[in-house]
Amino acid sequence: MIHGGDIYTNGLLEGRELIDYSSNINPLGIPKSFTDNISFAVDALTRYPDIQYRNVLKALGKYSSCPEEYFVLGNGAAEIIDLVISCLRSVLIVVPSFVEYEIDAKKWACNIEYSFLKENFNGTVLLKHKYGQLSYDYDDILNKLRSVEGVILANPNNPNGNIIDKAKFKKILDYCESNNKIIIIDEAFIEFTGDDFHSFAQSVKTYKCLFVIRALTKFFAMPGIRFGYGVSSDAKLIKKIKDKQNPWNINCFAEVAVINVLKDVEYIEKSKQWIRDERPIFLKALNSISFIDKVFLTYGNFVLCKLKEVDADELYKLCLDQGFVIRKADNFRGLDKQFIRLAIKDDVRNEKLIVCLKKLEL
Ligand SMILES: Cc1ncc(COP(=O)(O)O)c(C=O)c1O
Repeated sequence: MIHGGDIYTNGLLEGRELIDYSSNINPLGIPKSFTDNISFAVDALTRYPDIQYRNVLKALGKYSSCPEEYFVLGNGAAEIIDLVISCLRSVLIVVPSFVEYEIDAKKWACNIEYSFLKENFNGTVLLKHKYGQLSYDYDDILNKLRSVEGVILANPNNPNGNIIDKAKFKKILDYCESNNKIIIIDEAFIEFTGDDFHSFAQSVKTYKCLFVIRALTKFFAMPGIRFGYGVSSDAKLIKKIKDKQNPWNINCFAEVAVINVLKDVEYIEKSKQWIRDERPIFLKALNSISFIDKVFLTYGNFVLCKLKEVDADELYKLCLDQGFVIRKADNFRGLDKQFIRLAIKDDVRNEKLIVCLKKLEL
């Protein structure tokens, strides 16, 4: 399995319900603003969607404060990632990161360079506890950009949840803007940072080199709806991507979702409050588990952990026996069997997982 979320193999297909700590979905679940309006999607089933998706674009424009012509719509962020990478002949991938970047780049025969996150060995004292910290190697990214057409990185990054330091990134932005390079920033998890300041969505207005990707998938808890989007002021790039797409790639349920959930301020604020509350509690609890060597500081709704005395395969099996699915992180480039990733969920389930891990300490 190259992704998290496999609650089927050892779970549903065997008639067993598992608690999924391997995929990172908002535990508040589907926004009521979607389910309350689902009948509009059912009614729309017998007709084709608006091929120009005008109401969807209006909703995105409002949510992101960007002109409607800046958007390209996709069947999940995955479609947009694939299509924007297909426009490049060479790409720098910042790793470890979402494995699809590399899979897509290989599929499109791109020349690939890698820039590895680097560890801040000093450790950072945060929330009165020490956490590991991985950060982008800004100098390395800038150097390697000279020999490629563009770079893809995530903000926050999956699997560890670090975010871009805007001041340090400015040099890269300016270099790319003046040298016709493309910067793809995958913001699939951005809302979980709890602060709009961390997003680059507004910077697309001043930097044509920027292409920001977002989705309903994680924050609005709708992986099944398959809706993502790209935003950029590079009209040529947007057109190039659109020209590669099939018509009506967004279905009527996704349309209804976009139109309703992006203006659901109550859900958005409640979700941000949940992650602000739960993240430090969960990090601290994980830090107290004896076989977890290091917990990495995260701005996302997931936590990368380095193990000791047990490897990811063993821990995976032990947790599965207790009804939990965790994410082995060894297929992320640069990581190995010492690493796992855990989602952050609601307090009740987080507590259950911690109890399970504590039991395994013996
Ligand atoms: C960083 C990142 N970007 C994009 C995606 C894919 O999102 P979607 O399900 O919207 O295609 C994922 C899924 O795990 C991800 O981790």
